[in-house]
Amino acid sequence: MENTAAKKVMLSGIQPSGDLHLGNYLGAIKNWVARTDEFDNYYFMADMHTITVRQNPADLRRRTLEQLAQYIACGLDPEKNTLFIQSHVHQHAELGWVLMCYTMFGELSRMTQFKDKSSKHKENVNGGLFTYPSLMAADILLYQPDFVPVGEDQKQHCELTRDVAQRFNSIYGDVFKVPEPYIPKAGARVMSLTGPDTKMSKSIPEGCVFLMEKPEDIMRKFKRAITDCDTENCVRFDLANKPGVANLMSIYAAVTGKSYEEIEREFEGCGYGKFKPAVGEAVVEALRPIREETERLLKDKAYLEGVYRSGAEKAEYVANKTLRKVYKKIGFVAR
Ligand code: TRP
Repeated sequence: MENTAAKKVMLSGIQPSGDLHLGNYLGAIKNWVARTDEFDNYYFMADMHTITVRQNPADLRRRTLEQLAQYIACGLDPEKNTLFIQSHVHQHAELGWVLMCYTMFGELSRMTQFKDKSSKHKENVNGGLFTYPSLMAADILLYQPDFVPVGEDQKQHCELTRDVAQRFNSIYGDVFKVPEPYIPKAGARVMSLTGPDTKMSKSIPEGCVFLMEKPEDIMRKFKRAITDCDTENCVRFDLANKPGVANLMSIYAAVTGKSYEEIEREFEGCGYGKFKPAVGEAVVEALRPIREETERLLKDKAYLEGVYRSGAEKAEYVANKTLRKVYKKIGFVAR
C-alpha cells in the first residue's frame, strides 16, 4: 500500500483569467504531471483571484471548467492529484481574511505585481488587488505544503507567504509549515514568439500559442516567430545572442524530448525557414491529443462535476484542519 503520509506535499494554482497556453503547459502542468507519484499534490483553479480584475461571468465559468478539463487532458490524473476550484473551499476566503491581519501595508505596497496591475487598470485599483498576496498565502498555508511550484513572477508572493507564516508562528507556535518555492530552471520558461524578452502570455496573443488553438493558427504563429537578426541563419543554442532561436529550440526540445545537440544536427544547413515550421508541426502534434481530450471531457459534464466535487471534499478536509487550528490559536470561540 502507498504511504501517502510520508510524501512531501506540493501545491499550485493557475488563475482562469485567460485560456491556457503552451507556457502554462510546458512551464507548469507538464512538470506537475511528471511529479504525480513523487508528491501528494493539490492543484486548483484560482477563480477567486481572477476577480481582482473585472471578469465577464460567462467567460470565467467557461474557462474554469475548461481549465479543469485541460489539466486532466494534459495528463493530471484526478485519482492521484487533488484537483479543485478555489471558491468551492470556503476556508480560502476565511484564512485569507485572517492573514490579511498579519500582512503589513508596507509589504503589500512593495509587491511588483500590484504595482504593474494597478498601473494597467487605473480605473479599478480595488482592495482585493492590493491584498491578493494574503489570499495567496492562505491558499498555500491551508495545505501545509513543502513546495510551491511557481514561475519567477510569483516568487515575491511566495516569499511574502513565508514571512507571514513565520510571523504567525512566532506569535502562536508552529501552526504553519513554511514552504519552499519550487522554481523551474531558466530553460523551462517559454517566451513570447513575437519577442523572446517577455514571457509567453495571453496579453500578447500573436506571440502566444493557446492549447485549444487550431493547427493552422499555430502554424502561422510559428512561421512568423521572431528569430534573430544575425546573418548566420543557423540553428544553434545561444541564449545570450540568439534568444529567439533558443526559445524555439527549447520548445522543440520540450515537445519532442530531443536534446539541443540533436536539434542542431537535425537542422544543420537548413536555416530558420525550415526550422520554424518544423517546430510548429511538432507543437501541433503535441497539442492535438490534449485539445481532442479536452473537447471530449467538456461534453461529459457529469464526469467533470464528479472530479471537482471530490477534489473539493478532499481539499476541504485538509484546509479545515488548518483553519480550526488557526481559529483556536487566535482566540475565536469554537462553535
Ligand atoms: N498568483 C498566482 C498567479 O497569478 C496564482 C495563484 C494563486 C497561486 N494562489 C496560488 C499559485 C497559490 C501558487 C500557489 O499565477
